[in-house]
Amino acid sequence: MLARPRRNRVTETIRDIVKETILRPTNLIYPLFLVDGEHIKSEVKSLPGNYRWSLDLMLPEIQECIELGIQSFILFPSVDDSLKNSTATYSYNDKNFYLKAINAIKKKYPNICLISDVAMDPYSSDGHDGFVRDGEILNDETLPILGKMAVAQAQAGIDIIGPSDMMDGRVEYIRKELDEEGYKNVGIMSYTAKYASAFYGPFRDALDSAPKEGDKKTYQMDPANSIEALREAQLDETEGADYLMVKPALNYLDVIRLLKQNSNLPIAAYHVSGECAMLTAACQNGWLEYDKAMPETLLSIKRAGADIIITYFAKDYAKMQRDGKITL
Ligand code: PBG
Repeated sequence: MLARPRRNRVTETIRDIVKETILRPTNLIYPLFLVDGEHIKSEVKSLPGNYRWSLDLMLPEIQECIELGIQSFILFPSVDDSLKNSTATYSYNDKNFYLKAINAIKKKYPNICLISDVAMDPYSSDGHDGFVRDGEILNDETLPILGKMAVAQAQAGIDIIGPSDMMDGRVEYIRKELDEEGYKNVGIMSYTAKYASAFYGPFRDALDSAPKEGDKKTYQMDPANSIEALREAQLDETEGADYLMVKPALNYLDVIRLLKQNSNLPIAAYHVSGECAMLTAACQNGWLEYDKAMPETLLSIKRAGADIIITYFAKDYAKMQRDGKITL
């Protein structure tokens, strides 16, 4: 026998020199849920270990993450029902606690990267990402609302705008609005291939943002499709996106690979709430070992071709690395 692949696996050091995929905490983006008020840290029941934070408690949490090597955060607002309406006007209101918090966070930690979410759903009384009339989610009527939201977020200090609504033409619309208002260096991480997935449940619990009627299938993609993801990617590139995102991640590793092979833009993958909750639940039952299953899961997303991973496990991964449980 001449060829013995096992020779390259004999010791840990040898395994390390042939390691193909390396995932650093700096490749991770940590999602955080923000709520108005003070002294609030309320756990999301369906996403154990994740909380709705008021700003005063979120700041030390961010500090802790920075010390662990996490530099990027994606922020989502949990908005009181009384502030929601059909046109999501609170999303760009001066008094919006999310915008004020962005400003405060960037003042305190100017070197971190803050990513936003641009979509109507946290602010919409209909619970949809676009403007609803007579049961229809209207595309072109939604764009000016997204534009105002994006400009307000840029003004508050967001580094990268994250349009997550899947309306057609939003990247170009938002890019033009940002440029016109002087925010040429604010990036756009487009939710390029965002699927109408059953795995967003815990997130919608966190924000109380589930659609009041119907589903999101007229704007989010059909899980059966991947060629269509290429079409979305090409459009986002020509419209000026700086990053392309695939969401969810684990059930769509083939789509991550497809976009990586067909684009020169950095590819982000959103390891969504339901995907994280599944693993957490299995570990809580003693059916899987968290310290092994969690890093393997994140590595698989990176290996598929994601340059950047948005995951609720970011902090735990960084902790494991600090404690020497993961070698880079
Ligand atoms: C809203 C949005 C959703 C997620 C991110 N932004 C939910 C949805 O589209 O219904 C889901 C993230 C997650 O499940 O972790 N546009």
